Amino acid sequence: MSGFDKTWLALREPADIAARHGALVQDLAGHLASLENARILDIGCGTGSTWRSLSDRLPGDVNWHLLDYDPTLLQEAARQIGLNSKVGFLQHDLNDIAALPLDGVDVVTASALFDLCSEQLCTDLADRLASARIGLYAALNYNGLMHWSLPHPLDGEIVDLFNRHQRTDKGLGTALGPDATDCLTRVLTARGFRVKIEDSPWRLDANSRALQIELLNGLRQPLLEMKDLPEAKIDEWLGYRRDMVGEAGSLCLVGHADLLALPL
Ligand SMILES: C[S@@+](CC[C@H](N)C(=O)[O-])C[C@H]1O[C@@H](n2cnc3c(N)ncnc32)[C@H](O)[C@@H]1O
Repeated sequence: MSGFDKTWLALREPADIAARHGALVQDLAGHLASLENARILDIGCGTGSTWRSLSDRLPGDVNWHLLDYDPTLLQEAARQIGLNSKVGFLQHDLNDIAALPLDGVDVVTASALFDLCSEQLCTDLADRLASARIGLYAALNYNGLMHWSLPHPLDGEIVDLFNRHQRTDKGLGTALGPDATDCLTRVLTARGFRVKIEDSPWRLDANSRALQIELLNGLRQPLLEMKDLPEAKIDEWLGYRRDMVGEAGSLCLVGHADLLALPL
């Protein structure tokens, strides 16, 4: 939406924490508790949001490696997490799934990542996970639903346009966008994983004013790039949406799904 700067990631983190589906985290915790010296690799870690959300809810002896290709985000993750003997950091480009360091890893985690990824990347990752019997917890995959309780006539057209933009290349091949969870389900089920999916929507009210404004600001460029709606119409819609943030009864829902796939 606004790129992956640390300010945007910090703004969305409380909404992500509230949205994550608790039952899948419990199932993940149960799986890790059955292993000795369990190890997690969090891919596309950003500033470490997945670790902050999960580490207190998983067995305390789990070792983590946090992986991203962006050195600035990795540095920020290390700064925020501080000295912790159970957390390491790795720089790696996910375009190279063949070299993803999976030795000794029990579960790969990711949050708000797979909607950026291609079908090929998911297939290649599923092959590697299946051959080493590694689980996957993939949270907060955008599912194409955006809904506002106070409607505007352009809402449907705008969401369709944004979803088409979500399916363009974000640096990891032609992005799956809203199809990410379906794709992961298909490729992992075909390789013998037991897959569970739960909804994890953002429900944004007046308490998430800054996040909603930044979400709207981040929609402008993708909508313009699609060239289907005149700039003036996009700005009229954005103006209305900004005015409605914080109005009585105003709620914005952004759909996501969480997925847990464990080897049988
Ligand atoms: C939407 S952010 C999510 C960050 C974090 N998981 C969170 O929930 O806050 C997507 C993350 O994927 C990372 N990413 C994007 N392309 C990547 C690539 N080619 N290789 C590794 N990481 C990548 C970005 O740097 C960013 O940290």
